[in-house]
Amino acid sequence: MTEDENAGRELIRLMTGPWAARSVAAAVRLGVVDHLAEGAADTAELAESLGLRADRLNRLLRLLSAVDVVRTRSGRHELTDTGAALHRKHPSRLRDLVLLYDSAMFAQAWGSLEESVRTGRTAFEVAHGTDVFSYLSDHPEDAGLYSAGMAAGGRFGTALPAVYDFTGARVVADLGGGDGDLLATVLDHAPHLHGVLVERPTALPAARERLSAYLESGRATIEAGDFLESVPPGADVHILSRVLHNWSDDRARAVLRHSREALAPGGRVLILERILPDDGSPLLSSLFDVHMLVMTTGAERTEHQYETLLREAGLTTERVADLSLEMRLLVAAPLPG
Ligand SMILES: C[S@@+](CC[C@H](N)C(=O)[O-])C[C@H]1O[C@@H](n2cnc3c(N)ncnc32)[C@H](O)[C@@H]1O
Repeated sequence: MTEDENAGRELIRLMTGPWAARSVAAAVRLGVVDHLAEGAADTAELAESLGLRADRLNRLLRLLSAVDVVRTRSGRHELTDTGAALHRKHPSRLRDLVLLYDSAMFAQAWGSLEESVRTGRTAFEVAHGTDVFSYLSDHPEDAGLYSAGMAAGGRFGTALPAVYDFTGARVVADLGGGDGDLLATVLDHAPHLHGVLVERPTALPAARERLSAYLESGRATIEAGDFLESVPPGADVHILSRVLHNWSDDRARAVLRHSREALAPGGRVLILERILPDDGSPLLSSLFDVHMLVMTTGAERTEHQYETLLREAGLTTERVADLSLEMRLLVAAPLPG
């Protein structure tokens, strides 16, 4: 193959990626994935029971097969392992991630990437006229998509109790803890702990639902709060999972200062983020860094950049551990004084 052919093939692969992604999301929304999760079916059966056009569905299925979401044998379609993970009841909840990433809310924000790079404005604000969290407060349907998608994308957190020993802790507060999925994971692994979820008021209904069993048994409490203003005192472990990357250095520093001020003596701050390496640029971290540029005033940061922020807030990095999907845990301890 000539160099030109190689370049052409590679560019077409890159530029058609969004078409494949859209097709997967369409199959989820049309009910194709949930139907096939019940068992293999041919196109005519699927089309009839879902009320779809068989000829068009067949073309969609051919693409799903090419991207390894569906396997077609003797005219019957079934889900591959990847496809099975998109089922409504699959524990990964990856379906929620697909629906969020394919949402008009995200697509419109990404459509303003160029203006963001040109002018420094946040693409989300160019597209939607306000910042993402104010927008979510005013759009309950998108807020539901966001909170479910975040919880699905946060499944890496299940590894947290394996890399951090909560034995000596009493109260763990998850600041900006979303629907509470990570807090629930931590409470399950450490039955002696009490959990506090701090979130914006509009994010609380999803958290009340996810944490209902822990709230009823008195193992968790939920507090409406704004970590840009203050953090409630009383916890000896704070979790900041995918929070600091949403904010500019000034705001991230403010969140860390408030955390440091509220932390019980001997406490620790657990930061879960995709940390950019100083050398090289792994794909996922770079993708999410540009996603942060599109969505927020924040960024993915290197370990060195986190340490600078931490020191300015009276904290320092104690250790760093790998989670999964290029996520890392950065354990921060208060500096003396
Ligand atoms: C990217 S999500 C991460 C959610 C969760 N920690 C996770 O890892 O799945 C950021 C979270 O910060 C919350 N948040 C944003 N601004 C906040 C504020 N000022 N005070 C408290 N929470 C806030 C959002 O509601 C959202 O749930």
